[in-house]
Amino acid sequence: MRIYTSIADLRRRAQQRVPRAIFEYADRGSYDELTLRRNRAALEALELRQRVMIDLTQRSTATTVLGQPWSMPVAIAPTGLTGLFHRDGEIQGALAAEAFGVPFALSTMSICSIEDVRAAVTQPFWFQLYMMKDRGFNEEMVARARAAQCSALILTVDLVVQGLRRRDVHNGLTIPPRFTLANLLDIMTRPRWALGVLCGKRRSFGNLAGRIEASSGLGTLSQWIASQSDASITWKEIDWLRARWPGKLIVKGILDVEDAKLAAAAGVDAMIVSNHGGRQLDGAPATISVLPEVVEAAAGRCEVLFDGGVQCGQDVLKALALGARACLVGKSFLYGLAADGRRGVTRMLEILRAELEVSMALTGCTDVRHIDRRVLRLPSHLSGSPS
Ligand SMILES: Cc1cc2nc3c(=O)[nH]c(=O)nc-3n(C[C@H](O)[C@H](O)[C@H](O)COP(=O)(O)O)c2cc1C
Repeated sequence: MRIYTSIADLRRRAQQRVPRAIFEYADRGSYDELTLRRNRAALEALELRQRVMIDLTQRSTATTVLGQPWSMPVAIAPTGLTGLFHRDGEIQGALAAEAFGVPFALSTMSICSIEDVRAAVTQPFWFQLYMMKDRGFNEEMVARARAAQCSALILTVDLVVQGLRRRDVHNGLTIPPRFTLANLLDIMTRPRWALGVLCGKRRSFGNLAGRIEASSGLGTLSQWIASQSDASITWKEIDWLRARWPGKLIVKGILDVEDAKLAAAAGVDAMIVSNHGGRQLDGAPATISVLPEVVEAAAGRCEVLFDGGVQCGQDVLKALALGARACLVGKSFLYGLAADGRRGVTRMLEILRAELEVSMALTGCTDVRHIDRRVLRLPSHLSGSPS
């Protein structure tokens, strides 16, 4: 049994396990990766306040988000092509999440379909929608998410046009994929991955099966996706969705106060402060830097969730301190999945929870629901604590 003491351990193992093109698809960001680095740097720069001599015998990381109980304030973010990191990756992730008592979000661009995941789990999962020009497709996706009894629908709004991830181009992970000699050789050195993923029955976009006649390959479908991405969407789509989706509605990709106000006014149940993990607008701020102003703009009208760079429990504590209700993890999830499938995802969640628990205790917090700015060492004008 391997020992993983941190997300970094899982990341190292993931790097050994999956082909470089797949690993870097998860690990890297767009353009010069300024925003990718900022997400981590800004989280790291926040200091926690060590407190002592406080009764810590009763401690809890349990919370409620959107009216549902969670064992800790962390959910698994939607990630495309997850089933390429491990055979049936979305199913493995969903099973690990449900056993742990946290939500799993399935991407439109998943390898396993909504129905595949539904058949494997007992607890409802979340579905993430990308709006396509083909209204019939959007309609169908919402209907399928309803039929699968998904407990929330996430509309991702920060990818109507695509930022360039240069590593994907160099690695041949393009649309359509390009098999270079280098990545074929690379795959040969990962026989376990090849056996699991390439010999598995699910290797294409599961939710799009049947969309394109006589197509089973990633290439043709990817071209369809690129041509289908709807760059015309506006806040009016929220009404369109509301008419079709009676459940919880979450908008993902808010990074600005004005958009936060518009999202809250549009009546969403939650918004996710996100820059797509540094994969879209390079030069955008770190998500943790804008979180406080977004929380203020939401003004309690909806819940505010957070993602971007969360790779340890201390990061979760910091995001909660600045007003997030909960965090989502993208890369951390994929590192765990690539390292060791379902067990790796469980280990990732265990690591985050253990780090969160200890950090809460050392900052004098006993209940995750009561975390506030007092756990941070902030300049006095930002601390919000009584003077
Ligand atoms: C490999 C990868 C694929 C992603 N695919 C999607 C997607 O299909 N839909 C979506 O809304 N977000 C997608 N995201 C963004 C994540 O949902 C999340 O916003 C981001 O990963 C959070 O940052 P983190 O990776 O630092 O945790 C993806 C992220 C990664 C790393």
